[in-house]
Amino acid sequence: MSDGTDPLDTPTMTGDEILLAIFGTGDGRNDPYPYYEQLRSLGRYHVDGLMNSVVFTGHADCREALRNNKLGSGRDGDQTVNRMGDEAALAARAEMQRRGVERGRATSMLFLDPPDHTRQRSLVSRAFTPRRMEALRPIVAELTDACLDELEASDDRDLMTHLATPLPVSVISLMLGVPQADWPTIRHLVSAMVVSLEPAANAEQILAAGAAGEEATDYFTDLIAKRRAEPTDDLISGLIAARDADDELSEAEILAVTQLLFAAGAETTTNLIGNAVVQFSNHPDQWQLLLDRPDLMAPAIEEVLRYDSPVQIDGRQVLEPTSVAGIDLEVGQRVTTLLGAANRDPDVYDDPQVFRIERFADPGTEAVMSFASGIHYCLGANLARVEGQEMLAGLARRFPELRVEGEPTIMPRLVLRGYETVPLAW
Ligand code: HEM
Repeated sequence: MSDGTDPLDTPTMTGDEILLAIFGTGDGRNDPYPYYEQLRSLGRYHVDGLMNSVVFTGHADCREALRNNKLGSGRDGDQTVNRMGDEAALAARAEMQRRGVERGRATSMLFLDPPDHTRQRSLVSRAFTPRRMEALRPIVAELTDACLDELEASDDRDLMTHLATPLPVSVISLMLGVPQADWPTIRHLVSAMVVSLEPAANAEQILAAGAAGEEATDYFTDLIAKRRAEPTDDLISGLIAARDADDELSEAEILAVTQLLFAAGAETTTNLIGNAVVQFSNHPDQWQLLLDRPDLMAPAIEEVLRYDSPVQIDGRQVLEPTSVAGIDLEVGQRVTTLLGAANRDPDVYDDPQVFRIERFADPGTEAVMSFASGIHYCLGANLARVEGQEMLAGLARRFPELRVEGEPTIMPRLVLRGYETVPLAW
């Protein structure tokens, strides 16, 4: 904590106070991990009075909640904890929703329940098979190299500006068929849009996110029309073909899927590589181990996902009476799964507070909770892994002496955890 007190030394905090510290204070957002442990020490779950939600920290309990189909995603897009905003922020969210309804915007799969979720997801998942993702690997490596050239030539040597932010947007743009000249515009819109995922976003940020969303809608409406007239082998053409063949995906749904891929896949992967480099700089022995043993690249990325997950929180809303971890849940009640806490569950991981890249070299190690579980399990998990591994491999090849110089600045966010700047030296 900023006064130098370790939150673990103040066991008098109640569960609500701990959650408030995590969500509502700079200390909690910068380093939520000691608070997660404090919450875990209070019991298996916590019913919080702030958000009227049952909060889980355990790996098995989070998985059980996320796999229980009597819990839904919360159609209003409000499934996490976005009741933290003030009245102006809530009004801005309502305004954003109203405009979306006015434009006939479809709900993306992230916020849908079966059967709509199943239909949308099965059409899109054809483009995300492990084989297709592996086929992208050399292209990701090439794009990484181009970013590293820019990083090397830059004055600021900022990882986020020159590699972590541009690369994931470029990869999704490439898959969708966005012309390269438009990638910078898309990057800018995506950054503005994802801010609205944060529970504590203010009215100004939410309205800016809404405006960026509208601009992105205009852009992709236009691109879809172009691909309809002249199909290519990109994902947008594929979705149009699927729609025309089965009349399964509406035009509005194609638009929703397109925007979701950017919203779900860009900043998360950006944060994966930012968080990775910060952890390796904090643990130089692990960086040296990776340089000595490049075969540990895949387990190393899993360990970054576990130790400092780019997505910290997920949630559901109860659709039918059910129970999770033996607790009876009522219809309408919220469930919050603290993924970052589940990843440090001592029942599942030995020495969970230790960053150790060999951990996942053991095939018996329990999978990370960073990509959630159940029907909404991250569609882009394999793509994120390929991108993370290729970016880290590129950095290791080009800059074996890599370290973070000075203090990286962390984003004031918690749902999506990551850094704004990571200045490097080599
Ligand atoms: C390290 C990077 C990533 C992390 C940590 C991550 C995490 C997650 C999580 C936790 C969910 C589940 C949300 C829920 O349960 O409500 C999710 C869903 C999703 N992710 Fe990712 N993601 C990452 C990268 C990507 C990438 C690269 C893409 C695609 C380009 C992607 C596309 C999606 C989609 C489409 C969904 C919705 C799936 C559904 O609702 O069925 N993600 N992701």
